This record gives sequence, structure tokens and C-alpha cells, in this order.
Amino acid sequence: MTSQSAARLDSLAPAELAAFLEEQRAAYADLQARGLKLDLTRGKPSSEQLDLSNDLLNPPSTTKDRAGVDVRNYGGLEGLTELREIFAELLGTQVEQVLCGGNSSLTLMHQVLTTMILQGGPGSPRPWKDEPVLKFICPVPGYDRHFSMLADLGIEMLTVPMRHDGPDVEAVAELVQNDPRVKGMWIVPTYANPTGAVVSQEVAAALMSMPTAAPDFRIFWDNAYAFHHLTDVEEKTADALSLAAASGHPDRPIVFASTSKITFAGAGVSVLAASVVNKTWFLKHLAMASIGPDKINQLRHFEFFGSADGVRVHMRKHREIIAPKFAAVETALQTALAGRGIAEWTQPTGGYFVNLDVVNGTATRVVDLAKAAGIALTPAGASYPYGRDPRDRNIRLAPTFPELAEVETAMAGVGTCVALAAAEKLSGASAG
Ligand SMILES: Cc1ncc(COP(=O)(O)O)c(C=O)c1O
Repeated sequence: MTSQSAARLDSLAPAELAAFLEEQRAAYADLQARGLKLDLTRGKPSSEQLDLSNDLLNPPSTTKDRAGVDVRNYGGLEGLTELREIFAELLGTQVEQVLCGGNSSLTLMHQVLTTMILQGGPGSPRPWKDEPVLKFICPVPGYDRHFSMLADLGIEMLTVPMRHDGPDVEAVAELVQNDPRVKGMWIVPTYANPTGAVVSQEVAAALMSMPTAAPDFRIFWDNAYAFHHLTDVEEKTADALSLAAASGHPDRPIVFASTSKITFAGAGVSVLAASVVNKTWFLKHLAMASIGPDKINQLRHFEFFGSADGVRVHMRKHREIIAPKFAAVETALQTALAGRGIAEWTQPTGGYFVNLDVVNGTATRVVDLAKAAGIALTPAGASYPYGRDPRDRNIRLAPTFPELAEVETAMAGVGTCVALAAAEKLSGASAG
């Protein structure tokens, strides 16, 4: 049966469903017999992608930055001006608003958050630790490490649905307008992890202008995939900082980005962009923790890119490597599942993930089946706070790291596992 003519599973007569279940059991037995060992768990660049940046393994051509400062020494807390200029252009902001840091933007997010907790920030009536309860809004599905960071710091999480154009703004506005304990929210505005959603101009404007009960409400605008296009349609992120400033809330958004998936995931450069007030506040506290970033790495990055266009050209090389892997995911899911009414998935135009929703109550089973067949998937529910997907239906697929042929094999296997788990569920069969 071709995928186009496949019937919805819920329209099959009992005998047809039983036959389908048997077919899937046989396909799964074949899959298991292959003894695969494949991994689609984490959104990491492949070694072929990392090789694109191997020139960074060479030392920079000089020991001085543009201003003549020796990059080998202490100092320069806000990062090299020439690299900040590149990111200011890429993020559509001013160099005064940009800071370049160490190798991880997640660390910058953690530092901003913990400093708000320990000291408070611009507009805070008191440090967040002195509030009886702290709450954050979490669009779901979302990035697991955002949620685990909040859980680790004892911050309560309020979920809102993530839609194709960003978080459900009415739900967000409702949560923030009367409750001063709601202090912040996460957003991945471009090619979100894991849905690939891009926050529209309208949604961004609404989030930046909405009234909030907390005077120091912060939006952690994590633009980790800002430049990570998979098609010719290169989405441009809404300008959160200008929108917020124009609506009288200049300190609301803090923008984060990094070169983790541009150059080396473990040895790149992180970026923070914010109002000058926020940046000055952050630098003041950062100065208690560091005498300056790794400016040698920053200089190497500056020389490697040369300009904002250098980054854009480099990202197209990544696209050439990873777009076929995303196409392979799409083909495999279409072949195995189209028309069956048992799964929905995204076709992202950028970023690192495909979001797969299976029959309610079967995501854990799918992941277990895949594991038993040698295909490691991100744990079901990982994209929800505390790893708990209330409908047990969401699976995050990360196709960048394995070789193309491995993605094809693994995804064909995932299709079998989704179909088998759905058939078991619909026919009330035991999970065997
Ligand atoms: C949305 C998002 N933000 C941040 C990160 C990590 O960024 P960094 O490597 O700069 O710490 C990731 C990595 O997967 C991510 O998906």
C-alpha cells in the first residue's frame, strides 16, 4: 500500500486493524534483527559540520585586537568590539547593546537568572530570592535545558502552548497581568527548539508591550538558531529590543545567541544583547566573576568570519550538509505514516529539530520500542517541564549528528515504532 492510499487507522475494521498490527509486529521483528546502533537524541553538529570551522584551530594572525590591546591578557569584559559589531549587525541591534562572552550562551542565561535571584535587576523592587514564590512562563514544547534550569533553581513553571507563530499570547498576557510572582518567560524566537516555529512580528510586539504585574518581568529571548536556515527563505527574527523600547519596556527582553552551532559547539563564543541599562547591570555583576573572556578565541572568530556576511556564507555550508538529513526525516515519516491519522510532524525551515506528535499515550512506548531496536531517541516528554508531557505524545527528533544514511535507516525504524505503538493502542493489544 502506498503512503497516499494508506487508510486512517481509526477507520479500519477490527480484522483490518488486527492485520495491520501483525504487519507492524513483523516489521518491528525485522528491525530488531538488524542489530542497529543509531542515535537521534541530541541536537549536535556532525563532525562534517565541525570540519567547516577547522581554520579556527589555527592561532589568530596577531596577538592584538583592532584597538591594539593584547588579547592574551586580562580585560575587555564585554568582548572584542570587532566581533560585537558583527553580532550587532546580525541581530539587528547596536554594538553598545552587545556583549560577547565565553563558549556557552546557556551559561549567560544562567548568570542573568541567578543574578536576578541574588541581587535583583533594573526595575526590581527586591532581589527575586526575597519573593515568596517565583514563576516563569514556558512555551511547550520547548528546550529541555531551559526547564531543567528553572527546576534546579526552584522556579515554578507555567506552560503555554507554542504555536507556529510563537507562544499563545493571550494565554501569556492572562498569566502576567495580575500575578507579580510571574517574573519571566523563555522564548526561542527563530526556528524554535523543538517545533521550528518562528515568532511573528505581531506576537513579538504583543509580548514586548503587554502589561505585566511584575515591574521587572524579563523575557529570555534565546535566539540560538537565528541564522540556521534550511531553505532559501531566511527568516528574520523580530527585533525584540526595539519593540520593547518603543513600547516603554526597554529592559524586558534579554537576547542570547552563540556560535555553538555555527563554529564549534564546545568552543564557540556566546552573545548577549540587551538595553544599555541591562547590559551595564550585567557587566557590573559579571565583573565579580571574571576579569575578561577568552579574547584569543574571539579574535580567531572575528578573523574566521571577517564580517556578518562571512557568517551568512558559512551558515549556507551548514545548510548543504544538514538539509538533506531533514529531507530524509520527512521522506521516512511520509512513507511510513502519511494518511494514517496517527502522527503529525513539523517541516522546519531552520534550526535543529523535527517535532513529532504521535497517538496520545504512546510516545513513551515509541521511544522504548526504538531503544529496544537500537535507535536512541530523546526521552518522551523531554520538551516539557519536569520531562512530563501530559498527553505522552511528543517526541523530539534531532537528525543533524548522524550520517545521512543513518538518519534514513533510523527514521524508517521510527516510522515502524510509531505505527506499531498506534496499532497496539487502537486495538487495545498488550504492549507485548
Ligand atoms: C534553544 C537553545 N538554546 C541554547 C542552547 C545551548 O547554547 P550554548 O551552546 O550557547 O550554551 C541550545 C542547544 O541545544 C538550544 O537548543
